[in-house]
Amino acid sequence: MRVVPTRASLEFVGRATWEALSGEQVTTDVFDDVPAVEHVSLGREAELVIVAPATADLLARAAAGRCDDLLTAALLTVRCPVLMVPAMHTEMWLHPATRANVATLRERGVHVMEPAVGRLTGTDSGPGRLPEPDDIAAAALTLVAPQDLAGRRVVISAGGTREPIDPVRFLGNRSTGRQGWALARAAARRGAQVTLVAANVALPAPAGVRVVAVETSAELAAAVREEATAADVVVMAAAVADFRPESPSATKIKKVDDGAPTLRLVQTQDVLAGLVAGRRPGQVVVGFAAETGDGAKDVLAHGADKARRKGADLLVVNPVGEGVGFGDVPTTVTVLDAEGQVVARSEGSKDAVADAVWDAVHPRLR
Ligand code: CTP
Repeated sequence: MRVVPTRASLEFVGRATWEALSGEQVTTDVFDDVPAVEHVSLGREAELVIVAPATADLLARAAAGRCDDLLTAALLTVRCPVLMVPAMHTEMWLHPATRANVATLRERGVHVMEPAVGRLTGTDSGPGRLPEPDDIAAAALTLVAPQDLAGRRVVISAGGTREPIDPVRFLGNRSTGRQGWALARAAARRGAQVTLVAANVALPAPAGVRVVAVETSAELAAAVREEATAADVVVMAAAVADFRPESPSATKIKKVDDGAPTLRLVQTQDVLAGLVAGRRPGQVVVGFAAETGDGAKDVLAHGADKARRKGADLLVVNPVGEGVGFGDVPTTVTVLDAEGQVVARSEGSKDAVADAVWDAVHPRLR
């Protein structure tokens, strides 16, 4: 990674900090190291340029094709995607000069993000705030990701359902929704149009993804069925309750002196089974299997049984248990086909797993 600050930016963060963080020498001017002809070598080497923050002045200089420092000179030599992340006061962002500069840059294929709306450097607030780092990273990754899911419609269920016992209590599970969120981020990055059917997930919506919030397995089943009608791929990453209380109480169940109520449970509908049965030609259905393994069979053997039983095109098997599988932790998954044969394995973050799942889905798309 190379850092190319403008002279003005060094008023905020100094050269020594950039050199320490990037482990590279940092220069601002074309004349700092003339023999290296840095503006040309940077242009040849760069796979992605992120200008953050892109001030009104930087946008103006880039739009005019000026090259009065190393950054703007390099912007004239690069052939890779360029992401500009504007940050300025609202009046400057809305000024016709800035509007025209942004329009010019976008016409030339430069990706200019919309600034966030919120508190600015003074007491003012409005559009012009630097977008959050996660949103900048998501936009940047989209520019370098393969667009192999472009034009595909993808539905992903995520999170864990809650089945009411009474108005204040429910039967739930430990799913956080993070794997479903990672799948949505990866699909959006690779060009898909993504809808998340989210059961009780306390995470902000990923950039560019539509989120349909549900609570119970019945609500999730209805939402997934509806969204699936136009989908090329449906991924059931949600932990859906297999059982629910037969007749939830309309009022809070009170504690009595001795004993406890008995809950009668009934099975919920199997959403994945319904999707597999109603699958359109060419539609790819993916299930997840969170397994613990037991004395009789290990995680993968249980997964292979489930793959054959469920009949989904792909089944992503992941081990779960104490400290494994739930939340923001690395995970190891095996992707099986409908016969229980291993198609892929992935180890690492939920984002890495998500990309491995889409890599396995992609060849199955018509
Ligand atoms: N699933 C579903 N509807 C349910 C339960 C599960 O669609 N009512 C989906 C999950 O989203 C997941 C897959 O089915 O994609 C497997 O879930 P899992 O609970 O592991 O499967 P079960 O058939 O319930 O098997 P087990 O006996 O291991 O609980």
